[in-house]
Amino acid sequence: TPRLGQKLMGNRNKELKSKRRKALMGGGKARVAAQHEKNKLTARERLALLLDENSFEEWDIFVEHRSDSFGLDKQKFFGDGVVTGYGKINGRLVFVYSQDFTVLGGSLSEANAKKICKIMDQAMKVGAPIIGLNDSGGARIQEGVASLGGYADIFQRNVMASGVVPQLSLIMGPCAGGAVYSPAITDFIGMVKSTSNMFVTGPNVVKTVTHESVTAEELGGSHTHTSKSGVADFECENDLELIELIKKLFSYLPSNNKEKAPITPTKDKLNRKVLALDSVIPENPSIPYDMREILINILDDKNFFEVQEKYAKNIIIGFGRICGESIGIVANQPKFLAGCLDIDASKKAARFIRFCDAFNIPIITFVDVPGFMPGLRQELGGIIKNGAKLLYACAESTVPKITIITRKAYGGAYDVMSSKHLRGDVNLAWPTAEIAVMGAKGAVEVIFKSEVAEDGSKTEQLVKSYEEKFLNPFEAAKLGFLDDIIKPSETRGRIAKSLEMLKNKDLKNPWRKHGNIPL
Ligand code: HXC
Repeated sequence: TPRLGQKLMGNRNKELKSKRRKALMGGGKARVAAQHEKNKLTARERLALLLDENSFEEWDIFVEHRSDSFGLDKQKFFGDGVVTGYGKINGRLVFVYSQDFTVLGGSLSEANAKKICKIMDQAMKVGAPIIGLNDSGGARIQEGVASLGGYADIFQRNVMASGVVPQLSLIMGPCAGGAVYSPAITDFIGMVKSTSNMFVTGPNVVKTVTHESVTAEELGGSHTHTSKSGVADFECENDLELIELIKKLFSYLPSNNKEKAPITPTKDKLNRKVLALDSVIPENPSIPYDMREILINILDDKNFFEVQEKYAKNIIIGFGRICGESIGIVANQPKFLAGCLDIDASKKAARFIRFCDAFNIPIITFVDVPGFMPGLRQELGGIIKNGAKLLYACAESTVPKITIITRKAYGGAYDVMSSKHLRGDVNLAWPTAEIAVMGAKGAVEVIFKSEVAEDGSKTEQLVKSYEEKFLNPFEAAKLGFLDDIIKPSETRGRIAKSLEMLKNKDLKNPWRKHGNIPL
């Protein structure tokens, strides 16, 4: 009867309310306070800051684990230590999971992994990014292999989603053991100073196995990974700063590999001349300058979103916009190691280029490179295979590619930095460009070896004649390897026009299962 139905509904509503209230409490007041004491926000507080107000739709809030080993039957929490669902960032759909350290240390159980997999599958079906907020003690130790299986299920989905939807990782607490491999597969990793760690094995295991004494911070803190290992892309002061940074990053990205990044309207004029660029290159070619200044001055509203700022500083990568269109920048930085390409720089740029290519983001390359880095350390580290990564990434990419040579483009590095030969669409040079097999002094020592040996005073004259012949942009332009030589101050306008021309570029590589990039 209706009365009974109403009673049932009333009771169920009460139960629902009380269960939901319990779920929202996570691991309880004391654990939330402990989380705050560590300067960390809770899983839900983080999502509230990441997502647009009232946009979060939570899934699986009532999921519980099914394990009864080692007392787990007495430790059940609604949601089982991870908050999952979808919401919006500036009106754009994203799927999220946020590990709740207050519940069993945010450890990953079978049930909790299933929740993460569910939203990953859904994100792939609808073509929306996956954002993971990591704060976990790793595999739930009491569950044994069931939780390991859960990790592998996530890894598999990370790999399937790679290049299909953007995957972003925020590391906001411990991230240890094999657990680090899920973020490692994602496109970008941001870490919080002091409170986050990433390592395959922690300091205690390291001490036992290799007898090295290291702190967690040295081994896997944000500084280590953003400046030494290159594992992470961003380092932030606290949770809030990282969340804001990820939102900004997302503004440059499309939602999936079939879409283009959103256009961000700007009042910055297409043809804005940057007169300062006409005098930015020093008279003496061995004097460095700051490539970053050039990039900032050319981009819309002088906004440059740098990625991996502290790692392999001899190459700059990041996002910007020209006339509202999102672009990826790859640029040699003469301020560090004279802009040489070494192992780290090659890997850094190659991965970024592949990201841009997968997600339809045009690539603008700024070249001032004296060559690949010579030396035993580089050769033993495999500069051949690592440098080839950059070459491979550049050659296989099919997005619009625009290249500006500001100064040196020597040797193999000339080829690799998005040259015409690697399907560069628009290749331009400043009048200060020097495109040659090598620098003049080195060249003279090789080709005029006997003359120089006979009469050392001839060197200067020979160097001068080599410089005159090759250290300019005209030889390359003569061969059509450059489309034009432009005034530096007009660079922004030329890029803008090229991007417009390339809007409908359609280039496909031959069918294959996958290529074999020199890993
Ligand atoms: C179950 C865990 C847990 C885990 C933490 N907890 N990690 N429970 N499984 N993996 C629990 C703790 O027992 C504790 O519960 C609560 O979470 C909070 O942890 P604390 O140790 O008090 O916190 P803290 O001092 O901040 O230290 C955090 C920590 C530490 C550094 C993460 O908890 C830790 O070392 N945990 C174990 C890390 C680990 O070895 N994980 C397995 C890695 S191997 P109580 O109730 O006592 O407060 C792995 C394999 C993945 O992950 C493989 C994928 C291929």
